[in-house]
Amino acid sequence: MAGLPYIVGNWKMNGTRAMLNEVRAIDRAAARFPKVQVAVAPPATLIYRTRDAADIIGIGGQDCHIQESGAFTGDISAVMLKDAGADFTIVGHSERRTLHGETDADVKAKAEAALAAGLGVILCVGETESERDAGRAEAVVGAQLEGSCPQVDGAPEKLSVAYEPVWAIGTGRVPSVEDVAAMHKSIRDKLVAIYGEGGADVRILYGGSVKADNASELLSVPEVGGALVGGASLTAESFLAIVGAAASLAED
Ligand code: PGA
Repeated sequence: MAGLPYIVGNWKMNGTRAMLNEVRAIDRAAARFPKVQVAVAPPATLIYRTRDAADIIGIGGQDCHIQESGAFTGDISAVMLKDAGADFTIVGHSERRTLHGETDADVKAKAEAALAAGLGVILCVGETESERDAGRAEAVVGAQLEGSCPQVDGAPEKLSVAYEPVWAIGTGRVPSVEDVAAMHKSIRDKLVAIYGEGGADVRILYGGSVKADNASELLSVPEVGGALVGGASLTAESFLAIVGAAASLAED
């Protein structure tokens, strides 16, 4: 798998200007970890200021609309995210899929809009607990990938996939290392089926209750190319502990 380990903070609907101090601290520290690619996805209201406060880290949106502009009150387009200073956007997070009813087709259209605007994409997939209990986790995630992976030229180079089991998000629970390994292998196989050779280079992140004390174990799993971190990304201290864990593994 190509590339440096990628550690991305997803702030969700958290953060006002006071959080820019955390951004500055994360950015300064990121300079000490050249073997890790660090990014944060603040709320859209902070993207512009985050860009100003940070020199090194990547900056992302958390969602985008499929259109460039128009009568869509409250929505934000990929072009606007790019204009505000974003490098990438998350699409298809389970909170968007569940709370906003986003389908795989919606997520695919958003990913394609983001790529067209010149943004990278972190595409989230993951099964619910009942789907896992029913032995359907890999089938569910495979179907999500088939339905939501962007199908435009150059997509695999700008795409990361984040495997986030819905039951692990914000719960403190994480899958076993064996289950993460099996799922990431299954995602890799699916990406190669979708994209051919290009699918071999798509970064696959793990997300869901990643913390300082489990980061090394999760990041050591084959085919885990980084982490999408929610709660633990909200302070520089807890986020940098995860970045530091990734750096230690990258040194080995
Ligand atoms: P969490 O969230 O780290 O708080 O579990 C991860 C995510 O939803 O991206």
